[in-house]
Formats: sequence, structure tokens, C-alpha cells
Amino acid sequence: MTPYVADPVYLNGRWLPLAEAGVSPLDRGFLYGDGVYEVIPVYSRRPFRIEEHLHRLQTTLDGIRLANPLAVDGWKEVVSRLVEAAPWEDQSVYLQVTRGADDKRDHAFPPATVPPTVFAFAAPLVTPSAEVRARGVGAITVPDLRWARCDLKVVSLLANVLARQQAVEAGCAEALLIRDGCIKEGAASNIFVVKDGVLLAPPKTRLMLPGITYDVILELAERHGQPLEIREISEVELRAADEVWMTSSTKEILAITTLDGAPVGSGRPGPFGEQMWQWYQDFKNTVMRNN
Ligand code: PDD
Repeated sequence: MTPYVADPVYLNGRWLPLAEAGVSPLDRGFLYGDGVYEVIPVYSRRPFRIEEHLHRLQTTLDGIRLANPLAVDGWKEVVSRLVEAAPWEDQSVYLQVTRGADDKRDHAFPPATVPPTVFAFAAPLVTPSAEVRARGVGAITVPDLRWARCDLKVVSLLANVLARQQAVEAGCAEALLIRDGCIKEGAASNIFVVKDGVLLAPPKTRLMLPGITYDVILELAERHGQPLEIREISEVELRAADEVWMTSSTKEILAITTLDGAPVGSGRPGPFGEQMWQWYQDFKNTVMRNN
């Protein structure tokens, strides 16, 4: 059986088989969810938008006041070694930094002598199959119960976990998070809406993760002259949309065709989502695969 995580993994400067990689049970990532992460897609063994992912990692570390344990070149070295050692052409590289393990439990930061825990691994990148894309997926809406710094990519993901599980139990792929009457994003994705030929995107605020895929989509929309509005999208507009898409590094662009059991638009993936998916593939193939 193909393992999900490639050996070796990276842990605190060492390269180990996953089975030998362990952290203290006092690690603050375990006790408090006190840490940050990144997920970087890799196509044909080339990391996609690695500078942007490492920049977002830095912004998140700054946001939780944790020093970056590695310089950009250090991270690139870790990623490239993981990618080289893994058996797959397309991968998803996971990076995590926590505030380390003290010898006691105290909410406040540990002494500066406590080193962070740095963990990274490569897994296969599994994007949605052609059948799933042709059908689209279902989503539910749920109240956004997260904190007020959703722009930070932190490992404390309990509200996202509960929302996604609620979606799965409803036979759906994603939960759309509604706050103050507006759609912010999905449990693990950004959300776009199409209405009357105009692409609508929620603005980057502290209540939404600034997705790397989100940025690529905005760039492609602009490059191809696709009418675009970046503004808050009400729940009412969401339900009246012609198309709704979820986007992320692992899902790319995926049509949401039912919302709380009701069809979105025609109930089938729409032409604008198809077009954007194609632009995304072309862009990816030009940038990443040189073909
Ligand atoms: N999640 N919003 C949330 C809450 C996310 O967790 C993600 C990605 C995104 C999309 O960001 P990007 O385009 O940079 O992948 C938006 C990753 C894939 C995860 O947690 O596995």
C-alpha cells in the first residue's frame, strides 16, 4: 500500500522515518494548538508559489509572536529535500511550527530557551477527480464560530474541524462559514460566487484566510478580463448565485452545486468555473511543467 506520508519526515533539524518521529506530550501544539502551518502544492516536483506560502508563514508567525526558526532558504532546502525523497510527482508539503515544549503547563509563552518544534512532511497531492469535478460537490452553511484572526494559518482548527465534520455527516464536501450575514470562506477553502457573469470574491480581512489559490484566481480573472468585484457577499446573494466555487491548494477550483440541499444555479458546475479551472490548469502547466 502506498503510504500517505513519505519517509523521511523533517523534525527539528533531523530527517527520520515517520515511525521514529516523536514530540513531547508537553508540546504547546498539543496542549494549546499554539502553532502555525502551511500546505504547499507541488506539481511535477516543483513547489507552486513557494515564496508566497513562505511569506504567509512569516505573517502568521509574526501574528502569533513566534520567531521563524528558519530563513527562507532554509525552508526551501527542507521542502526540496522532502520533495526529492518522496515517490510522487505531484505532492502536498506540510510545514508546521509550534511554540515548543516547556517542562510545565502555563498559558503564557515559555522562556526564550525553549526551542520551537519544527515538523514537515510530503504527501501525495490528490486533486478532485474528473468525475467529482463534472458533478460538483454539496456544501452546507454553518455559523462561523471561529476567533477573530482567521487571517492567520494557525493549527488551532477546532471550529473548522467541527464545521467540516458537520458537512461530512450531511453527505457534503464543505461547510461554508457565515458571519454577520456574509460568507467568509469554507472550513478549509476560500469561496467565490458568480452572479450574472460577474465573479464575486470576499475581501481579505482578519476574518478570512488569504488563500494562495485565491490570489491566483484574482490574477487570472484580471488577466483574462473577467468582470470581478471584491466585496462582502451576503448569505442571500450566496443562495441566489449562478455558481459557487471552493478553492484551495489541494482542491484547486471545485464547483459547489448544492447548498443546504438546494441546487446552486442550474445544479450543475457552471461555465465560469470550468473556464477558471482551465485557466488555472494552463497557468500551472506553463509555470510548473514547462509544456
Ligand atoms: N487549507 N481558508 C481556509 C480556512 C483554509 O484552511 C484554506 C486551505 C484556504 C485556502 O488557502 P490556499 O489556497 O492557500 O490553500 C482558505 C489547507 C489546504 C489545509 O488546511 O489543508
